[in-house]
Amino acid sequence: MTTHKLLLLPGDGIGPEVMAEVEKVIGFLGEAGIAAFETEGDLVGGCAIDAHGVPLTDAALARAEAADAVLLGAVGGPKWANVAYEIRPEAGLLRLRKDLGLFANLRPAICYPALAEASALKRELVEGLDIMIVRELTGGVYFGEPKEITTLADGTKRAVDTQVYTTGEIDRIARVAFDLARKRSGRVASAEKHNVMKSGVLWKEVVTQVHAEYADVALEHVLADNCAMQLVRRPKQYDVLVTDNLFGDVLSDVAAMLTGSLGMLPSASLGAVDAKGSRKALYEPVHGSAPDIAGRDLANPLAMIGSLAMALRYSFGLGEAADLLDGAITDALAGGARTRDIAPEGTRALGTAGMGDAVVAALKARIG
Ligand code: NAD
Ligand code: IPM
Ligand code: MN
Repeated sequence: MTTHKLLLLPGDGIGPEVMAEVEKVIGFLGEAGIAAFETEGDLVGGCAIDAHGVPLTDAALARAEAADAVLLGAVGGPKWANVAYEIRPEAGLLRLRKDLGLFANLRPAICYPALAEASALKRELVEGLDIMIVRELTGGVYFGEPKEITTLADGTKRAVDTQVYTTGEIDRIARVAFDLARKRSGRVASAEKHNVMKSGVLWKEVVTQVHAEYADVALEHVLADNCAMQLVRRPKQYDVLVTDNLFGDVLSDVAAMLTGSLGMLPSASLGAVDAKGSRKALYEPVHGSAPDIAGRDLANPLAMIGSLAMALRYSFGLGEAADLLDGAITDALAGGARTRDIAPEGTRALGTAGMGDAVVAALKARIG
């Protein structure tokens, strides 16, 4: 069996707590002979600032480059609220994404049958929900220059962020969306604001051009604000939803609540496929470091465990093992396992470790 080299970057807040549950799953998959991993760990975010004065060392970046895939917990927290902007915890994550060229962020929002009641929306609106948000991850206003705050002659200040997209950046993310749609329901919705933004005009134009090569896929353009509303009004109208970096950030948090909790959404951040057929990849939950619940065994580890399932599928070609792990998550939920974020008010819930154990028990039960 091939041994896959995984770099684990637990990060801050609940990051290390949810990563510990993934390590349980990794241990089990190894023992059961389903997938073999060699893991090493490093620091990213606030913990790296504390240890090294920067949120990502060159050595950690080099390890990420050398790994077959990276798993990341979460970064940030109030402890680092006053560090310089350039070295804030989030800058470590952004550098990883940019320097590894991880332009395609897949954020699947699936409402598990057992969780239809946990969603903020009515059961009939979310039952069977399965949306794939394709978020552009290395461009747009996150990285555009200039990005600065200057002081004006009258002593007041002026802040600038720059939204930039090139044809090439839009073209490659559109292809990711159309290719995924071919394996799913054959529908893509593309969200932008061409009514206000030049980058939206180009986005719509390029997505339309690329679509000409995908005549078998249905394409709908939607303004991003309307899209946010539609996600809450009738979310099942969407299958693959492609959008830019900032809209994708916001729309995926909205989609998370349709599934019951931000603690349910995994993600895969993927680079271009190289000549050998491999690609750089980082797998991370959509949620953050959740300082309000950190250190209390309250965090839901399913987004992190689901991110490992995505690594099995997208980096290691282990689709069956990924199905097995996704199935174990479904079984654990069907069996009543709930962390507090997805438990009905007033009921007793499992802790982070208890949920990890429930997934491992469900894995055991599945393989007999
Ligand atoms: P957050 O995602 O950390 O938390 C938002 C809310 O969701 C909180 O109430 C939190 O308790 C809850 N929540 C999040 N994950 C959960 C889980 N697994 N189980 C149960 N409940 C969960 O967002 P925030 O509070 O706005 O940000 C906190 C910090 O995290 C900030 O520094 C932010 O920059 C950072 N952040 C990091 C990432 C990342 O590392 N990928 C993503 C988002 C935010
Ligand atoms: C996410 C996060 C990050 C983002 C932050 C922490 C930089 O919110 O992954 O969704 O905005 O991309
Ligand atoms: Mn976000």
